[in-house]
Amino acid sequence: MKKKLMVLMLAVAMIATFAMTSCGGGDAAEFKTDGELLAVTEATFPPFDTVDDEGNIAGFDMDLLSAIAEDQGFTVTFKDIGFDSLIPALEAKEADIIAAGMNSLDPERQEKVDFSTPYYDSGLVVMVKAGSDIEGVDSFTSDMKIASQIGTTGADEALALQEDGKIAESVILDKFSDVVLQVKNGDVAAAIIDLPVAKNYVAKQPGEVELVGDVLNAEAYAFAVQKGNAELLEKINTGYQNMLDNGTVDELKAKWEMD
Ligand code: ARG
Repeated sequence: MKKKLMVLMLAVAMIATFAMTSCGGGDAAEFKTDGELLAVTEATFPPFDTVDDEGNIAGFDMDLLSAIAEDQGFTVTFKDIGFDSLIPALEAKEADIIAAGMNSLDPERQEKVDFSTPYYDSGLVVMVKAGSDIEGVDSFTSDMKIASQIGTTGADEALALQEDGKIAESVILDKFSDVVLQVKNGDVAAAIIDLPVAKNYVAKQPGEVELVGDVLNAEAYAFAVQKGNAELLEKINTGYQNMLDNGTVDELKAKWEMD
């Protein structure tokens, strides 16, 4: 009897030990925090995330994170994947950082990843073809198709309008560039997209599209790391503050012609 009790107590102790080390996102030893880290993005989101004429992933996000990495003693390379694959890539530990103009205020996202100090305040806006009589979301009618990019807050807004019967179809597209193209071509009545990216497009391609109505929400772009990677998060936040203090952030905003 005594022997059985001892075996039972040993089993309970082993289970408890396993539970303590496997909950809460795991222990720090399983996270990458230095050396060459991989950041993922969706690179049709200029000026934050795009592909330059030489085929390199480039943008404000890339420059800022690279400056933070140098300041904090690690290196970062970038990979272009679908926007809706970004958080799953961190959850599967296939990447270390998200650098994609990602809104950090979304509670569902906050459950899955840890966000850095926000580095850019944004919001959503309605983009229409130049000359459209649509004046904003309130002009949408139940026969309209509205485009947005898959997995984004703009898609959330459009899908909600569809569910409420205020539009006919939320056209969800993989690439941000395709969203703008469908507006330009008249394939959709409008798009719900991020204000800074829409302003960047209008500035580069005047006369093709217009931004109408009020800003639909408040967003705070931030970098994201795997849930529980507190050490890397601290490095990013410290590096970002250093880039604010030494003027690098302002220099990069000027380089990418951002407000
Ligand atoms: N800010 C929006 C969001 O967080 C859109 C971000 C799109 N970013 C990109 N690299 N395509 O959902």
